[in-house]
Amino acid sequence: MSDIKLLAGNSNRALSEAIAAYLGLPLTKCQVRRFADMEVFVEIQENVRGLDTFIIQSTSFPANDHLMELLIMTDALRRASARRITAVVPYFGYARQDRKPAPRAPISAKLVANLITRAGVDRVLTVDLHAGQIQGFFDIPTDNLFGAPVMVRDIKERLDLNNVMVISPDVGGVVRARALAKRIDAPLAIVDKRRERAGESEVMNIIGDVAGKSCILVDDIVDSGGTLCNAAEALLAKGAKEVRAYITHGVLSGGAVARISASKLKELVVTDSIHPTEAVRVAKNIRVISIAPLMGEAIGRTAKEESVSSLFD
Ligand code: R5P
Repeated sequence: MSDIKLLAGNSNRALSEAIAAYLGLPLTKCQVRRFADMEVFVEIQENVRGLDTFIIQSTSFPANDHLMELLIMTDALRRASARRITAVVPYFGYARQDRKPAPRAPISAKLVANLITRAGVDRVLTVDLHAGQIQGFFDIPTDNLFGAPVMVRDIKERLDLNNVMVISPDVGGVVRARALAKRIDAPLAIVDKRRERAGESEVMNIIGDVAGKSCILVDDIVDSGGTLCNAAEALLAKGAKEVRAYITHGVLSGGAVARISASKLKELVVTDSIHPTEAVRVAKNIRVISIAPLMGEAIGRTAKEESVSSLFD
């Protein structure tokens, strides 16, 4: 692995350091800072000529700045003759506009994939894309890792699996929730949100019998926390014993942490794909688990041209 270089943008220094520690490598010396007018300034301070380089950068809040850092770091590596550039993007932002559901809507996920590719990235390594088909927005190899094994390990260590039920908080998340349910051999239920008539409030129907169950909501993103807290309320109203959530990307913007802290959710577990804020770290019912070993292993296998998918067998 002597020809690997790991570079960190500013989005999640702690995760980058944990990945580097897993691989037993130092982070490459590089400055990623701002000019006085807040433009991004990048300077790579080590030779990378002919080397296999990995930029670790989530395009999380502030998404525009972090995306720009990733693009400019890529440009710097390309001009410095790196042999291969892999964008390691634990959280791929701008993923939620991934199709055109209405006239005059953008497909931001495709635009961002184009930007990353055109900047000079050779391959992408990411985790739990909002929609699996975003992989196809990149015309370069793209590995979409699953956070599920990290969650399953945590669930097995902490919960009595005999009474657990996995819940998808909406119809769109069923495939993801089913995959986790299969790994712990648990039944699956679905929250079906419906607005019967325009102007009427949304009704939550639960498909499945959750009475007396320890429910685990599984999703890719928790942003405002609205989806999560409403689903938790609906499950408890149907007799669920308790509700926890395992969600890969803790976007947690605005008043999300306060909303979740005040909710009946027993616990929200998120990964460190996004750097947790101080509010997240001190919240009494939010816990962060690390995907650093998963990312580190995938980077190591990529460098050695070994199978990454077998990580999930
Ligand atoms: C939706 O398709 C996603 O999977 C999440 O359920 C959604 O982004 C969560 O957003 P919020 O926390 O703002 O309800």
